[in-house]
Amino acid sequence: MRLYRKEGNTIQILCFPNENVEKGDYLQVEDPKQNKALLIQVINVQFANVPGILEELLRDSTNNGDIIHGENLDPLDVASQITLIQDARLLICKIRGTVQNGKLSVSSAWLPSRSQSNIKKLSTTTLAKLLKINDKLPIYIGDTKEFSPLKIDAAALDGSLNIVTGKKETGKSHFSKLLVLSLIEHGAPVVVLDLNGEYANLGYASDGKKNQHYSKIHVLTPAGNFKVTLPQIGLRVMFNILIHALNLPGTSAREFRRTWRLLKKQGKLNLHELGEAIRNLQCNYHVKDALFSRYYALVNSGFFTDNPSEAMTLEDCFRKIQTGGALAVNLRDTSFVDRQIVVEYLLGKLVEMLTGWKLKAVFLFAEEAHLYLRETYWNDIVTRMRHFGVFTTFVTNQPDTIRENIYRQVDNIFLFNFTSERDLETVSRAAKVDSETVKSIARDLPPQYCLLLGRVVKDFPIVVKVRALDVQTMGQTRLFFN
Ligand SMILES: Nc1ncnc2c1ncn2[C@@H]1O[C@H](COP(=O)(O)OP(=O)(O)OP(=O)(O)O)[C@@H](O)[C@H]1O
Ligand SMILES: [Mg+2]
Repeated sequence: MRLYRKEGNTIQILCFPNENVEKGDYLQVEDPKQNKALLIQVINVQFANVPGILEELLRDSTNNGDIIHGENLDPLDVASQITLIQDARLLICKIRGTVQNGKLSVSSAWLPSRSQSNIKKLSTTTLAKLLKINDKLPIYIGDTKEFSPLKIDAAALDGSLNIVTGKKETGKSHFSKLLVLSLIEHGAPVVVLDLNGEYANLGYASDGKKNQHYSKIHVLTPAGNFKVTLPQIGLRVMFNILIHALNLPGTSAREFRRTWRLLKKQGKLNLHELGEAIRNLQCNYHVKDALFSRYYALVNSGFFTDNPSEAMTLEDCFRKIQTGGALAVNLRDTSFVDRQIVVEYLLGKLVEMLTGWKLKAVFLFAEEAHLYLRETYWNDIVTRMRHFGVFTTFVTNQPDTIRENIYRQVDNIFLFNFTSERDLETVSRAAKVDSETVKSIARDLPPQYCLLLGRVVKDFPIVVKVRALDVQTMGQTRLFFN
């Protein structure tokens, strides 16, 4: 390989056919005189456009026919040289940093010699070592191109906002299940908003037997084992539900608050009494009607109960996961409105527990969050709730459903394949590396391969083949013809 040219932070390298280099690989341009090496990453591979190559190729193809008779004389053996040149590649690379005395820095204010430098591949394993990305709490996420395990540090997810995104069926949910299981192994509490009910069986191995995670996975099914009483939910959260999930107008909401307080004072705060109280309300007909329709929405959700023995106290659940465990809230069979009710309650309670220091912090995994997260929660999650210790990972195959301002705060992006130009554009704007890198590498990622971006890899983009899990991942799409 030879150093060819540099433009901005792009370096072009000439590479000969016997050298096998692919997109995503890291190269080290060593300058023996300066005793340091420039670290660059290949983001595209092209043919080298040497003048006259078109003519040579054309001449070559016409020679293949039997038009010209006679012996092929090549006394100076130039043919092999010519094929070498025809197959020469041009590697488009981005400068990532400098390696000097076995230490890596992001500086790139120097240029190695074009005539003296020698260029070698740097394995991902060596890079990971240089970066020290798996220092304290390793999470084995998959294997590098050289088939050695790649581990990231769970601490890099701590306090972070993460996005897992990619095309359909590329392995996003699988990857987030891997993160969930690894986090709970390290003793972290995790809450999953499980839209498709696919996290429910993480406690079972693929052969159906209970696995080592079994006792740490708690599945909450709204209206099933997950029901609450009115006193548990509290006026503040109920108010949010009525206003945000059920769109109750302001005047009716005030009436509701009065009724609620009255019932509480009388010690009759339950669903049955609430219905009676609304029925007996002496107020505007429209207000009463509005309250009644919301009351029935609450009743029909099946999420509320008057029987305390049937109710689930979220405090107990959180206590169970405090030293490592996951609450998977199964939203699969829950309607759009009911999902919002449940999420409103859950997040409200979560913040309450965190502000009261009953819980230190929690990792929240949200699949396709735009289907249940209300407008104002998006900002809340990245600002206020993050300070209280809610560290969110959004999983989605539609990157444009996540707001621009969320992207600006993102610490890690786990990117799977995308082919759509628009999706790539959205993600590349958010990533902390140049958009060319993101677009070029993500476009050619095979399924189950992930491009790691951000804090977990110290901003050195790394491609990894995500490892398989011996759990029932339940991610398969149901098919008719099989
Ligand atoms: N690294 C992996 N090793 C083995 N199997 C995998 C891996 N990644 C994904 N799979 C399997 O591929 C299938 C699709 O994966 P997954 O459900 O994670 O995709 P997805 O990107 O979440 O898809 P969707 O957009 O439909 O939600 C699943 O059956 C899953 O078990
Ligand atoms: Mg999925």
